[in-house]
Amino acid sequence: IPVEDFDLVIFGGTGDLARRKILPGLFRRYLSGQMPVESRIIGAARSDIDSDGYRTMIKEAILEFGGEESQDSNGLDAFLAQIEYVPIDAKGEGGWVELAELVRNDVVQAFYFSVAPSLFGDLAERLHRHKIASATSRIVVEKPFGRDLESARKLNDVLALHFDEGQIYRIDHYLGKETVQNLMAVRFGNVLFEPLWNNHYVDHIQITVAETVGVGGRGSYYDKSGAMRDMVQNHLMQLLCLIAMEPPSQFGADEVRDEKLKVIRALEPIMPHHIVRGQYENSANGPSYREDAENPRSHTESFVAMKCHISNWRWSGVPFYLRTGKRLKARTSEIAVVFKPLGHSIFEGQEEQQNILAIHLQPNEGIDLQVTIKEPGPGGMRLVNVPLDMTFAEALGDSDVEVTDAYERLIMDVIRGNQTLFMRGDEVEAAWGWTDPIIEGWEARNDVPKTYSAGSSGPDDALMLLHRDGRKWREIK
Ligand code: BG6
Repeated sequence: IPVEDFDLVIFGGTGDLARRKILPGLFRRYLSGQMPVESRIIGAARSDIDSDGYRTMIKEAILEFGGEESQDSNGLDAFLAQIEYVPIDAKGEGGWVELAELVRNDVVQAFYFSVAPSLFGDLAERLHRHKIASATSRIVVEKPFGRDLESARKLNDVLALHFDEGQIYRIDHYLGKETVQNLMAVRFGNVLFEPLWNNHYVDHIQITVAETVGVGGRGSYYDKSGAMRDMVQNHLMQLLCLIAMEPPSQFGADEVRDEKLKVIRALEPIMPHHIVRGQYENSANGPSYREDAENPRSHTESFVAMKCHISNWRWSGVPFYLRTGKRLKARTSEIAVVFKPLGHSIFEGQEEQQNILAIHLQPNEGIDLQVTIKEPGPGGMRLVNVPLDMTFAEALGDSDVEVTDAYERLIMDVIRGNQTLFMRGDEVEAAWGWTDPIIEGWEARNDVPKTYSAGSSGPDDALMLLHRDGRKWREIK
């Protein structure tokens, strides 16, 4: 179903994110018929090129990053015809009159701020002064949304001078991932799970976002950030919120975000011995973090593992183990809900098995439920744990599973005016409010991360975090 007619202005339209994600994503939406043919995408950036030059740049980007669909050359040419470009000076006056002439005011207007946060205020102010934006325009901003509570508050305040909260779409691309939304469908669309979703039946929950890539190429940003700011404060905390929140009264933007906020507010401060920082060393697999970041003395973490507690009626006593890292053994993201062992087993001499609901975010999107059954055959009553597997591509048939990248889904939600999968300002601030003391503690102690070899599962201390509790991490594979 096509969305409403729109003009989307991408500030930072020549940047990496625009070329790798935003435009290839929009192209796929165009091919699927979701983008109305009158709609326009307007790149705006410092480069002094014209619309033809910009179209050539975007064509190359789509051919490089657009996957199979970019082979559709007629489709690509037709899509490019909907693209314009205006050279703009975010801090000066150049280009704003031209932009004002271009942007229509009788269609949905969206302004994507794919630029350094220090420019948000300048852009917002000029959009208003030149009467380009109106009370119904939407703006889209990206992480990093601040680097601590104070800077996040400042950004929220700057945006609030010109836009209402209902106009601001803060992207966390993890919320656009197919399985992340499926998590809500599984929890709240089935009678089976919700009665068990509490400290009576859940032993613990593990959230893993493991990456094989290092920080090569992004070292100057990453070295000032580290895994805590880059991944935990946003992506992992959002996953934690969705898995732990109370059922919202309906699937509406504020209903869902109110519940997520309550989870963040109920997080207990973390104890220093419940958190492990790591940094990858060089190995046969490649250079070390310090080489990648070009900072031989860096104490920035490329890995974090932590044990968290949510202090509320539902989750009291249930540990949530979170871990994320670069240059790990495999690229895999999953949430595992590990249920308690049986109170009493009638099967003597059999190893006790636990039910596990594993939600795989990537690479193979799907959900599986580990259940105990009798091993088939004449060997007597021998129990085994097997997965009830719901790999979406298999269950639904490949052709029905449309591969929609998180960005394309989220941009379409902006045009539709649906904020459910975007972070509200208070959520972002609450998340920083929780991570700030952890980071400040490291800084005050001049904490040195534990090393781990590239291609491993992280530092040994991270394994100990669970061993001490008589548990173990699921394998990264
Ligand atoms: C980004 C981080 O937000 O998410 C990156 O800045 C990280 O460091 C990326 O690699 C991971 O996203 P995905 O979708 O590849 O899991």
